Amino acid sequence: MTTEPNAITYKFYINGEWRESKSGQTIEIQSPYLRNSVGKIQAITHDEVDEAIHSAHLSQKKWAYSSLQERATYLYKWADNLVEKQDEIAKIIMQEVGKGYQDAKKEVVRTADFIRYTVEEALHMHGESMMGDSFPGGSKSKLAIVSRVPLGVILAISPFNYPINLAASKVAPALMAGNAVIFKPATNGAISGTKMIEALDQAGLPKGLISLVTGRGSVIGDYLVEHKGINMISFTGGTKTGMNLAQKAAKIPLVLELGGKDPAIVREDADLLEAAKHIISGAFSYSGQRCTAIKRVLVHESVADTLVSLLKAEVEKLSVGSPEKDSVIVPLIDDVSADYVQGLVNDAVEKGATVIVGNKREHNLIYPTLIDHVTREMTVAWEEPFGPILPIIRVSSDQEAIDIANESEFGLQASVFTSDINKALTIANLIDTGTIQINSRTERGPDHFPFIGVKGSGMGVQGIHKSLESMTREKVTVLNIKD
Ligand code: G3H
Repeated sequence: MTTEPNAITYKFYINGEWRESKSGQTIEIQSPYLRNSVGKIQAITHDEVDEAIHSAHLSQKKWAYSSLQERATYLYKWADNLVEKQDEIAKIIMQEVGKGYQDAKKEVVRTADFIRYTVEEALHMHGESMMGDSFPGGSKSKLAIVSRVPLGVILAISPFNYPINLAASKVAPALMAGNAVIFKPATNGAISGTKMIEALDQAGLPKGLISLVTGRGSVIGDYLVEHKGINMISFTGGTKTGMNLAQKAAKIPLVLELGGKDPAIVREDADLLEAAKHIISGAFSYSGQRCTAIKRVLVHESVADTLVSLLKAEVEKLSVGSPEKDSVIVPLIDDVSADYVQGLVNDAVEKGATVIVGNKREHNLIYPTLIDHVTREMTVAWEEPFGPILPIIRVSSDQEAIDIANESEFGLQASVFTSDINKALTIANLIDTGTIQINSRTERGPDHFPFIGVKGSGMGVQGIHKSLESMTREKVTVLNIKD
């Protein structure tokens, strides 16, 4: 592997200090489009993980008693620092995970907005009180004060595709709720994560409250997940890893955001031009490397030919190439991912699907590919590609679309395109996903909406308010009043 000139060896962050690991080992981060090393991160040891968790517990005890206004001061400063450093951080996101530069900048600004909203939401969340006399036999002499308290030390594990936003969406609510955080970024994404932590360190956050632990998942992954010092895990990543984590984690609260196979259901009465635009943006932005990407189209056979020709025209307009030029289609995160995507296309073609456009590849750059006449027998009908390929399944009724949508092991989001609001709501009621979008692409934001994956797509709820709730627990103090 060649190395970019000026590639830096980054340190990890523990107890308020930037350090090199005692392991003496580092991991090279290969850029998906430069195809060379853009920096090295520390491969830390189990002892260093222990130290991070120990210092997190010590600091959290004091932090839990700090006022919300005090916590807000640090987080507001963190948000300001991110905005100030948006160009520098966006460049690193671009080089490290191959995201278009403008999209990377938007991610940083979105993250600052997320942090500020989290602060404001936390400032306005209040407990409740209950009188005892509403239960049979109860009395007004009992008053329950129900408040929320932090869980302790939260393990935040983030994926490569949104290395800042999906990291801060765990770190910000965790800190605001009074917890300490052990942050483990994905390998590609760890340099961006380092920059995000630098901005938090420069905000003056008291030492020990956040640690950045980097290393091979195979070395520190299970160790972190099974560690007795971790009180809650918030994970975003692949379904297989998430399922494995759920089996290994000690009996602690988990929030898992995993994969998806979001369908776009297109009824015969849909505005096809509008639907095509949403489907293309939903399926192909950042080469489809979004958990919420549209990953299959279930279209009524009476309008399928028209939709396919509209989609084809839109796919042909997509820019393909480098994130430095803000191309929509960029090289996938690594060659293994591209091999997997290509395998799905090959399987579909072998089983009789028609490639409408695409099926072209240069290393890990997969050209946008539209595959028609996909059937249930083809793997691409069910598996998540995390790449720029879109299978089209023709259906003869709403019911068939609903059945195929629900047969998936995933249940993140779905889109329904129709001009009949009653049909839209009926279908929305019958689809087994966390969210249904009516006449729009599938997407996470705005970030204060609840974000839910069911079945193989996850566990628990995110979204700012819900994340604050999931990173705290209720505590009841009962006042027994004497007459
Ligand atoms: O990859 C999963 C992200 O949460 C998707 O976010 O819908 O805003 O692209 P997005």
